[in-house]
Amino acid sequence: MSAAAPAAAPAAAPAQQQPAFRGVFGFIGGAVAKAVSTTFIVLVVAAFVARHVLEDKNTIAKTHSPEVVLARMLARFEAGSVIPRFEKYHVSRPDAIAMLQKVLRPARLKDYTVVIGEVGCGKTTAVHNAIRANSTGIVYHIVKSEVLVSMPGLLARSLAFEPNQFTEGYLKDRGVELDEVTSAAEPFRSWVLLSLILRDVAQQFKTKHGHPATLVIDAVDEIAQQGPALLHAIQDFAKAAADEQLLNVVLVTCDGSNLPELKASSAMTRARIAEVSDITDEQAVDFLLHRGVNEDAAKRAVAKIAGGRFVLLNSLVFELQFKTVEQIFEEFSSRTESSLQRLIDDLALYNATSVVHKTLCDLTHGSLRRPSLEKTLGIDLTKKLLATNINILAYHPNDTYTLHSRHVQRSVAALLNCTRP
Ligand SMILES: Nc1ncnc2c1ncn2[C@@H]1O[C@H](COP(=O)(O)OP(=O)(O)OP(=O)(O)O)[C@@H](O)[C@H]1O
Ligand SMILES: *[C@@H]1O[C@H](CO)[C@@H](O)[C@H](O)[C@H]1NC(C)=O
Ligand SMILES: *[C@@H]1O[C@H](CO)[C@@H](O)[C@H](O)[C@H]1NC(C)=O
Ligand SMILES: *[C@@H]1O[C@H](CO)[C@@H](O)[C@H](O)[C@H]1NC(C)=O
Ligand SMILES: *[C@@H]1O[C@H](CO)[C@@H](O)[C@H](O)[C@H]1NC(C)=O
Ligand SMILES: [Mg+2]
Repeated sequence: MSAAAPAAAPAAAPAQQQPAFRGVFGFIGGAVAKAVSTTFIVLVVAAFVARHVLEDKNTIAKTHSPEVVLARMLARFEAGSVIPRFEKYHVSRPDAIAMLQKVLRPARLKDYTVVIGEVGCGKTTAVHNAIRANSTGIVYHIVKSEVLVSMPGLLARSLAFEPNQFTEGYLKDRGVELDEVTSAAEPFRSWVLLSLILRDVAQQFKTKHGHPATLVIDAVDEIAQQGPALLHAIQDFAKAAADEQLLNVVLVTCDGSNLPELKASSAMTRARIAEVSDITDEQAVDFLLHRGVNEDAAKRAVAKIAGGRFVLLNSLVFELQFKTVEQIFEEFSSRTESSLQRLIDDLALYNATSVVHKTLCDLTHGSLRRPSLEKTLGIDLTKKLLATNINILAYHPNDTYTLHSRHVQRSVAALLNCTRP
């Protein structure tokens, strides 16, 4: 058995070893190596299985017992998530960071928080910065574009939670009625098991430290895109945790398009909405200068296209190598025009006396309150303009609407011949 291992080892890295190996031993040598390596894998797997079967029951109890599983999760909260360093030129945003730090460590836990901001405005980076200073008591998890069923498992990994054969027994012993849970479909089954354990750990943390721990789930819009049910379950949990002062849950999302409706839903009534907005034009120009854009182009690009929206500034750094500010604006503008055109066909938008025309022109000068805008544009058109594939309108937690970004403002003003106020 021990002799098989070294002989099989070269075959394990076929990319580097195969050509030389074949040169010496020819085809038969290669076939033998393949057989040997297969045998080797079978032996290794068998040994692994045997070790597990024979593993001392005491060892299993030591690593798998509910107490140990919960203790690992508690330790993860106490240590806090490790946040990677920010490598590129960094724009300092003390106000946003201070606001987020209050959200992460509230003086009194009254409600859970939804942090909201347009796509690419710098939410993730700002949340990272707010945590990095002192991550004690804070677990951070970001949802990627994973399929919905794997979401609870990945969240569990961030929480250092490994469910095992004892988990359900533990919960039953604690008087939890599990029949409904274990018959539920994924991802709900895994989510409910995780949330039940999380409650216990949160209680332990609070008892031990005198204040609740914090769980941040970033990019929950990725969950919502695949249907609202799991996000609603998470919001219900967040609300209950806040009601019981057990755990401070912070959800981060770029999807404000349905915020007016979410605000009306029951779990949302408990949410505190915090907005991360764009940086100032001065900061944006400074950012472009540090990224190698010349001063004249930087000033015009910020004024005409990007404002303080990071995601646009980043793409400008790249595009300005090949194009002028005017060329880039024309590209954005023609996209806005075709989006509008699709809506215009049903509406007399180009009729300068219509209320829709006037309202859109008013928006090129600043924000409008939600009720008056919805009244003049109508709910249908408002929703169409908000849709992320159209990206004309943006809703803000202070109950106002603006046009989506600087270049949209300028495009709309040009397309509708809006005059200065
Ligand atoms: N303070 C900052 N200084 C410099 N660059 C930044 C800063 N904040 C964000 N960025 C850059 O802007 C881009 C978008 O930032 P980030 O991913 O934080 O935005 P986001 O709002 O979380 O985006 P999304 O809506 O896609 O989740 C990233 O490339 C990031 O590196
Ligand atoms: C981090 O925050 C915790 C409270 O959650 C506090 O006890 C601790 O002293 C802080 N650590 C530092 C280095 O500020
Ligand atoms: C805007 O003005 C141009 C010429 O000044 C005209 O051709 C165009 O039809 C006008 N558009 C609207 C919406 O009034
Ligand atoms: C412009 O719209 C207003 C109201 O929407 C309407 O009364 C008027 O007749 C329209 N004018 C033209 C030229 O279509
Ligand atoms: C509401 O928030 C938006 C975005 O942060 C801002 O542009 C606007 O000025 C605010 N409006 C009011 C009335 O506070
Ligand atoms: Mg993000």
